[in-house]
Amino acid sequence: MDLRAELEKILHDVGPENIWRSVYDNENVLLAHGIAEMSDARPQDISTVDFQGKTVLDLGCNFGFYSFLAKRLGAKKVVGVDIDDQVIKGCQLLKAMHAVKDVYFYTADLVNPNLHGPFDIGMLINYIGRNQVRKPITKVLDAVERVSLSTMIISLAYSYNIDKHLDGHAENLIRRYSPVYIRDGELHLIEFVHDYFRDNWSMSVISPEYEKLNDKRTLLFTRK
Ligand SMILES: C[S@@+](CC[C@H](N)C(=O)[O-])C[C@H]1O[C@@H](n2cnc3c(N)ncnc32)[C@H](O)[C@@H]1O
Repeated sequence: MDLRAELEKILHDVGPENIWRSVYDNENVLLAHGIAEMSDARPQDISTVDFQGKTVLDLGCNFGFYSFLAKRLGAKKVVGVDIDDQVIKGCQLLKAMHAVKDVYFYTADLVNPNLHGPFDIGMLINYIGRNQVRKPITKVLDAVERVSLSTMIISLAYSYNIDKHLDGHAENLIRRYSPVYIRDGELHLIEFVHDYFRDNWSMSVISPEYEKLNDKRTLLFTRK
């Protein structure tokens, strides 16, 4: 089977609901439409970060959209990891099809402390959402911090309405986040993440200020 046919089979098997960003072949023909909003990490916002000569780890890379972007923005070496074998195979086919060098993809659980690295830049894009915030989110925050030397790019929402977005259960959330971050019926996620990293990292918002608090922003953390 040729590269394109193999990739098309993977995209078909993975299913449209698991393809987050649009996938193109080497002649810029659309192979699969991505379902994610681009607003949570717009390439023009990501490109304000200095990737020149940097090493980058893209955690939960899916079909490698941001891994390939980091390489185009001048990264020296990029590694993308995802828990799904099929998407990693798809990334490897895309790398071959687009003849990209110094970008590598591995199947791995991103909370695994044995990830290669550390890297100058760790990216965790569109990973923390409504499902993740109900779990111990600190495991994921620790994972990206552990592998990032100087910079972290993380996308997440400012806050979630507990009844509307998180099916209620404020008392369960208080156990995870402390009451400080549970106010006015909202989980103030951005405050929690800011405070979690405040000793070692400065945070700035590099996406536009969207109207809805639960729209994901792109955050840049630089080590103090
Ligand atoms: C919402 S998608 C975002 C993909 C990509 N970062 C983007 O923004 O286009 C989340 C990705 O994380 C992967 N994933 C889920 N759990 C993971 C884990 N424990 N370790 C590594 N990858 C994981 C999924 O397979 C999926 O490809």
